[in-house]
Amino acid sequence: MPSLTIADQSVDQLGGPGSVLARQRRDHVRLDELINRFGTVSRAEQPHVLREINNLVFSHAFAEEVVLWPAMRRLVPGGAALTARIEGEHQEINGLCAALERMTPDDPEWDERVGRAFEVMRADVRDEEDLVLPALQDVADVAQLQRLGTAWELVRRTAPTRPHPAVARRPPDNALRGIPLSGFDRIRDALDSPSGRSALNTVAMTVGRLTSSVRSGQLASSRTGDGQRGEDPASRCRSRLPVPPVPPAGPLRRLPVQPALLRHRVDGDHRGERETQGHQPPSRRRRLAPQREQ
Ligand SMILES: [Fe+2]
Ligand SMILES: [Fe+2]
Repeated sequence: MPSLTIADQSVDQLGGPGSVLARQRRDHVRLDELINRFGTVSRAEQPHVLREINNLVFSHAFAEEVVLWPAMRRLVPGGAALTARIEGEHQEINGLCAALERMTPDDPEWDERVGRAFEVMRADVRDEEDLVLPALQDVADVAQLQRLGTAWELVRRTAPTRPHPAVARRPPDNALRGIPLSGFDRIRDALDSPSGRSALNTVAMTVGRLTSSVRSGQLASSRTGDGQRGEDPASRCRSRLPVPPVPPAGPLRRLPVQPALLRHRVDGDHRGERETQGHQPPSRRRRLAPQREQ
C-alpha cells in the first residue's frame, strides 16, 4: 500500500523543490487556480483562460508520458496498471479539449464539455497525488526523484501545448510525433496572443494549413492498424467512434464509397467527436490543500 498522498507532505518530504513530486504538485496547484479562475471570468474571456489551462495541462501530461510513466513501469510493482489508468484520463482530456478548440462559449455543448474536461483533470490530479506518485516515492530515493524532476522539466519545456488526441500516449510514438507538433503549437500560441496576431496574420494561415496536413498524415497512419507502435490498448480512453454506415456486401464494396468512409472516420477521430464513458474516480479522494509550500 503506497504511503501518504503527496498533497499533504512538506517540500522536504517530497525530496526538495527540484524533485519530480514537488514539481508535479506545483503544476497541480496552478491548474486548480486556473480552473477556479475560469468560473469567475465572463464568457467572452473563458476561451483565453481555457488556452492557459491547455498550455499548462498538455505540456505537463506529455512530459509525464515521455519521462515519468516509463520510469513508473520500470520501478513500481503494478506500475503498468496505474499508468494505464492515467493515460486513459489523459486521452479523454485530449479529446474533450480538441473539441472545445473548435467551439465558442455560445455553443450549446460548451458548458457540458468544459465541465467534463475539468472533472477529468481533477480526477487525474487526485489519482496522481494519492495513488501513482506515492507509489513512486516508496521505491525511489531522493536523488532519483530529483533526476526525474530535471528530465521531466526539460521535456515539458519543449512539449506540445495543445491537445493531440491522435498521438499515442506511450513512447516511442508520442515522442516521435509529439515533439515536432510542439513547434506548431508554440507558433499558434504566439499567433493567438494579442501582440502576435496582427503582425503574423499571413503566417497563421500557412501554419494552420501545415498543422492540418501534419495531423491528417498522422491520422492516416494511425488508422492503418489497431495499435500504434509502443501503445498499450489498455491505456486508451474507453470511447466509441461513431459507426459509419456499412456498405452492402458484393460489388458495391469496390465502388469509391470506401475513401469517403475512411474520411468520415478520420475526420470524426480528428475532431474528438467521440462519445466518452464516465470515468470512475477512485474511492479515495482528497481535495487540494488551499495553501502549499512553493
Ligand atoms: Fe501531473
Ligand atoms: Fe496527468
